[in-house]
Amino acid sequence: MIIDRQNFVLKEEIREYWTRRAETFDQSPFHGMRAPGEKEAWMKLIGSHVDRQEGADVLELAFGTGEITAVLLALGYRVTGLDLVESMLARAKAKHATAKSLSLYLGDAEDTREPHASHDAIVMRHLVWTLVDQAAAFSDWFRVVRPGGRIVVIDGNFVEKSLIKRLRRRLSTFLERLQGTSAHYIDWAAHNSILSRVYFNTGLTPEHLRKMLQNAGFEDFRIDNLEPVRSVQRRKARLSDRLKLGLSESFILSCRKPNA
Ligand SMILES: C[S@@+](CC[C@H](N)C(=O)[O-])C[C@H]1O[C@@H](n2cnc3c(N)ncnc32)[C@H](O)[C@@H]1O
Repeated sequence: MIIDRQNFVLKEEIREYWTRRAETFDQSPFHGMRAPGEKEAWMKLIGSHVDRQEGADVLELAFGTGEITAVLLALGYRVTGLDLVESMLARAKAKHATAKSLSLYLGDAEDTREPHASHDAIVMRHLVWTLVDQAAAFSDWFRVVRPGGRIVVIDGNFVEKSLIKRLRRRLSTFLERLQGTSAHYIDWAAHNSILSRVYFNTGLTPEHLRKMLQNAGFEDFRIDNLEPVRSVQRRKARLSDRLKLGLSESFILSCRKPNA
């Protein structure tokens, strides 16, 4: 039997990378929700894409430190979450220690092992760009969501090609060093090495994702930019952080599993 060791090794590298980032993840600009009104802006945007009432069963994939989890709980959903990394799980659990309608587990979003048609919606932020076996993931999500339920993907294009974008990131990093605000830890060598080998290694666009999810059986697509959230984040952000906004062409895409 031939085992695809490449995928196994890559997934392990992804796990190690996020394990090391967990401690300072909330300090990275626009990961931890710090701006006044930011959580409410996310609630409005995500709530409109999930399009479900309070009490709906939502599966959150790759919850990280639990920032989007807070949004889903505030919307009144019952949340089940999966993440690949123990140190992320520990942080999210501590953050939401008193939440009643929340279950968080270690798990692989590409093979959730959730029961068939068990969730009203699936929500994820910044997972799809790092998928190793995207086809397996999309067909698993199609299996797990109930007929009529929606998949909500918040993501961006992390392959920065243009010179302007690369200069903006460099200037931002330079300013962070001057200000002494670069406390968050990113291993860029590991990040770039992983990025060069994942499926979306030439960049993730909503149009490409839409075609792939259409092929997996989803319909009724909605794609928006994140401007309602970005405008709130921009208000009090330092210049070093504002320079980063927009670099990754972030989007929110949602689609529906057809009714049976
Ligand atoms: C950029 S962080 C995003 C965290 C959170 N969704 C947020 O937006 O704040 C990426 C997260 O994806 C998780 N992850 C990466 N690949 C995964 C997989 N195959 N299954 C589950 N989680 C995964 C990592 O452990 C990490 O917590």
